[in-house]
Amino acid sequence: MLQKIETLSAAIAAFTAQSSSDVEQFRLAYLSKKGELNNLFAEFKNVPNEQKKEIGARINILKQEAQAKFDELTAAFSSAENQTLDIDLSLPGNPLQLGSRHPLSIIKKQIIDIFSRIGFTVAEGQEIEDDWHVFSALNFPEEHPARDMQDTFFIEKNPDILLRTHTSSVQVRVMEKTQPPIRAVFPGRVFRNEAISARAHCIFHQVEGLYIDKDVSFADLKQTLLFFAKEMFGADTQIRLRPSYFPFTEPSAEMDISCSLCGGKGCGVCKHSGWVEILGCGMVDPNVLTNCGIDSKVYSGFAFGMGVERIAMLKYQIKDIRLFFENDLRFIKQFQAAN
Ligand code: DAH
Repeated sequence: MLQKIETLSAAIAAFTAQSSSDVEQFRLAYLSKKGELNNLFAEFKNVPNEQKKEIGARINILKQEAQAKFDELTAAFSSAENQTLDIDLSLPGNPLQLGSRHPLSIIKKQIIDIFSRIGFTVAEGQEIEDDWHVFSALNFPEEHPARDMQDTFFIEKNPDILLRTHTSSVQVRVMEKTQPPIRAVFPGRVFRNEAISARAHCIFHQVEGLYIDKDVSFADLKQTLLFFAKEMFGADTQIRLRPSYFPFTEPSAEMDISCSLCGGKGCGVCKHSGWVEILGCGMVDPNVLTNCGIDSKVYSGFAFGMGVERIAMLKYQIKDIRLFFENDLRFIKQFQAAN
């Protein structure tokens, strides 16, 4: 019998399994009701009494060996097989969903970057404004028809409070707080009570610019805007200034750029004129400086204001302004920031 026990012990030690079904075979062969160990215990009854102690102890050790082996095999296969069950290493990884910037944010940043390269800082004002900062300080006389140039959303209970119609209001806020030299751009959202169409929206964005110092001239304005146009639309871009009217600038002008699509030859975008209007500008009216506490005998300056949507529509050839506000992912995912 000892001989048989040693043979089984060697077989158990040498047993190897390739799969969990081999482990089950092992259990059936050694540890089940009809397995070898139970057979041994059955035979044990016939062992002569004087050998019982020695053989009994050896059978118990064999049982421990078999159980230890079984536990070891079970652990090995359950973890190995769980892995192959739960994780399929051949599956593709989870794609990283990268967001993209909104086209208006991209263009706004480009405008700010261009002006910051020539020393302009950035300031922001508030969207809910008062009459003084949006109109009166900017030389719009009360009851003057110039106020109708911009259809305004007023707060019913207090007509002194309104949604700003342009970011020129930030000029006033900055000049009231700071003495020249001032060289800054003011990006922001503006509101006008206009019917929404492919060309107009009641909410849009502007970037206003302001430069106040001693001896600032119209030539400085022109060179600054030429630099901007070339940086924004390409080195071949030309500009043209046409006389215009704004209450807060004198003289005032509107600036056209040579059509970036046809290079000035004439196409649908420039209505076959070769030129497209992109901004309003002028020399800050001395009344505005005085209203904001700046000595207009010492200082002069220029200002300009442009629509971010307009620049984006020109650069990206977008024909409908409403696309910017619908947040259709198919539209807004198409634009890549350069940096
Ligand atoms: N505030 C004007 C508008 O919203 C744009 C503008 C024109 C701004 C001329 C200026 C300027 O600073 O000088 O239509």
